[in-house]
Amino acid sequence: MNILGINAYHANASAALVCDGQLVAAAEEERFNRVKYAAGFPAAAIRYCLKAGGLTLADLDHVAIPRNPWARAGTKLLYSLRMPRFARERAKAWVSFADIPEALAQASETDPKRIRARFHRVEHHRAHLASAFFVSPFDRAALLSADGMGDFASTMWAMGEGSRMRVHGSIAFPHSLGIYYTALSQYLGFCNFGDEYKVMGLAAHGQPVYLEEFRRILRGHRTGFRLGLDYFIHHRQGAEMSWRDAAKSPTLGRLFSEDLEALLGPARHSEAPLEQKHKDIAASLQARLEEILFEKLLSLHAQTGAKSLCLAGGVAFNCAVNGKILRNVPFERIFVQPAAGDAGLALGAAFYVWHEILRQPRSFQMRHASWGPGYSPCEIRRAIEEQRLPNGGFDISELAEDRIVENTARHIAEGDVVGWFAGRAEWGPRALGNRSILADPRRPDMKNTLNLRTKHRESFRPFAPSILAESVADFFETSHPSPFMTFAYVLRQQRRQALPAATHVDGTCRVQTVDRHANPRYWSLIREFAKLTGIPAVINTSFNDSEPIVCTPQEAVDCFLRTHMDVLVMENYTVRKVRSADANGAVGIASRRIWEVSR
Ligand SMILES: [Fe+2]
Repeated sequence: MNILGINAYHANASAALVCDGQLVAAAEEERFNRVKYAAGFPAAAIRYCLKAGGLTLADLDHVAIPRNPWARAGTKLLYSLRMPRFARERAKAWVSFADIPEALAQASETDPKRIRARFHRVEHHRAHLASAFFVSPFDRAALLSADGMGDFASTMWAMGEGSRMRVHGSIAFPHSLGIYYTALSQYLGFCNFGDEYKVMGLAAHGQPVYLEEFRRILRGHRTGFRLGLDYFIHHRQGAEMSWRDAAKSPTLGRLFSEDLEALLGPARHSEAPLEQKHKDIAASLQARLEEILFEKLLSLHAQTGAKSLCLAGGVAFNCAVNGKILRNVPFERIFVQPAAGDAGLALGAAFYVWHEILRQPRSFQMRHASWGPGYSPCEIRRAIEEQRLPNGGFDISELAEDRIVENTARHIAEGDVVGWFAGRAEWGPRALGNRSILADPRRPDMKNTLNLRTKHRESFRPFAPSILAESVADFFETSHPSPFMTFAYVLRQQRRQALPAATHVDGTCRVQTVDRHANPRYWSLIREFAKLTGIPAVINTSFNDSEPIVCTPQEAVDCFLRTHMDVLVMENYTVRKVRSADANGAVGIASRRIWEVSR
């Protein structure tokens, strides 16, 4: 039984293929069309999933689409009558979704008549909840999804047991934690789609001195929360959105009102300097989100009596909140799958069909994020040759796997910035040791080195460490796993100086815990680094430079050449830039060595 999930005409367009209850492939469209957060129709991601499963379009039994036009139809109609812009958006969406079978046939160059799959519509937040629970290690768990908005709801909570979910409640438009965070991020001058995580990083630099004001902006309510609507405009005139075009990143118009500026002062322009006041506002925004979420989770815990919790939706990417849940709410374990945001809808919709519609039992658990494309040694070698790297300025070698991890660990320990390309690309927005830039976390200057040479990003944002799963409790005040880098943990007092380049200003790290069985090669690399240095952790940041994470070997080589990484390791090939300083300190080519092969 083959089920294809598709998140189309929505930010983070994606596809996921589930065959007989097992996930076979999952990927975001942005990795293929190189447009960050790409919306539109995920044609390339679908082609990849079918190829990975060895299937054609005619082999699909079911297609799952995480959008249900009939969900909250009355409220949608009401707002359509009040807001012409909203009505136009609805009409456009209706036409796009009606054409999905045609778009699917076109994407795979198949006659539409050959499609025999049944099409299913799954409500947005049910797909979010399914994306977390049905791939989690839990048989019984409380479930919470929270985001900007989908199918006119922003929040949904449920109880998951075995292969069924029972929805307990939801919060509908216009109230939304996602809109709350996005609107305030815009107010702080972070206006690009997906900038909220930068504001989360900024929050640690401030104090929540505006908490009382924020309790008016986001208010408590018996169901969870309400927005102080005077401070927002989306409910009066709709939000100006563009996310139907696959060739462009989505954009979102202004969401906050003049009343917000009257309350907090003038909004910051994106080019203006960041003052302490802005950091304090970010801290207050974050603190109020935490208050509301902990209250909601306490009530969900009391209602369900569950020991485990699954989180989904864009809000579940707030690793600062996630890392504090177990200290504030009596859950014992939490699961957040790597594509917790809207890309994960494709995965959730497919598993929803398998379990909730086809009534099949659970047999799958997501233990790693390696669901994207992988490449053969031939393809990697070709990428190196096509860029003419063997012709000068680079030392290229091919080593056996045990030598590769030893050699790479030594480069990192010596202070090199290493591009690491191994196995299948990650599912979700985090590099998790397959398409990563790695560096030494012991060096206090490494954060600046990475920012200046490779990542070109805001100086207030922290880098994150990957740590051996068995060493987590030695370094952090918890042993809870964080395999997908979705939790920020507090470093133990005696370890505060151990990872200076990967520790945020508040003493936390956004940790990836690396399991020996889930990613053996990456685990071995970190273990080799620990043998050399005594520290079982490396800095892990995504392999990119202001673009989607690299997917193919060609993109990895291209990013390596554009930036100032020292070493590129692609499977068993190592490419090292060979440089020496001349008398004036300028960097030049010192020597070359071509295709040294040592096995
Ligand atoms: Fe969503």
